[in-house]
Amino acid sequence: MRVHSFRSFVVGSSAIASFLLAYGAFAVGQDQPKKPKREAAVADTGTPKIDGEMEDKWKGAIEVPVKKVVASETTLKEKDLAVGTVRLMWDKEYLYAFWNVTDPKLSASSSDAWAQDSVELFVDELNQHAGPYQKDDAQYRVSFEGKVSGDGPGFKESNVKAVAKKTETGYVVEMSVKFMEAKPKPGHEMGLELQINDDPGTGSRGGIRKWNHAENDSYQSTTDFGLLVLTAAVP
Ligand code: BGC
Repeated sequence: MRVHSFRSFVVGSSAIASFLLAYGAFAVGQDQPKKPKREAAVADTGTPKIDGEMEDKWKGAIEVPVKKVVASETTLKEKDLAVGTVRLMWDKEYLYAFWNVTDPKLSASSSDAWAQDSVELFVDELNQHAGPYQKDDAQYRVSFEGKVSGDGPGFKESNVKAVAKKTETGYVVEMSVKFMEAKPKPGHEMGLELQINDDPGTGSRGGIRKWNHAENDSYQSTTDFGLLVLTAAVP
């Protein structure tokens, strides 16, 4: 029989043994939880005025969603949790972000800046995913009232400019952060994470949403930041 002779041919063959081993590894691999894909975004060149107003040059920028719920930190129902989008731009000195957050109840009553209604932008300028922060890494936070805070070896308050404004549905934050280590040019790739903190009016954080990695780890590790590619508009 054909099948039989095929079997006799392959039994003992080291090629098939390695195939089976490889298949076994593949099958085991299938049972492992899949690592979620790394989100990617692009930023085009431009120099906006930091005033909390959306100039025309922002309007062409792609809106990056900040909507993944960080379950370990969230007690609010998803429908009640602040959500938003971010537009990004860059020039040779700064990365710019324009946040539009939907959050019907604004609160800054916690003494912890990260528990107030606020947005956070994390950069790994050299895209090193080094884990613990290096000198090209920083965490920048801006509250809905425009108060700046942050952390990380790269963080310097004087490197951030931000203006926040209330809207009918929440708030906007326009911010610029100065490049520290990167010499940005078209094609430059960097690590980026985006986070929204929501205090529903209780004086403590009711939840977090993020762009890329749905864990509360970005303030300690750059490993799972998303990818931002700096591009230039084709003239
Ligand atoms: C985190 C907080 C943390 C804070 C430290 C925030 O991004 O969500 O849990 O305490 O960073 O700055």
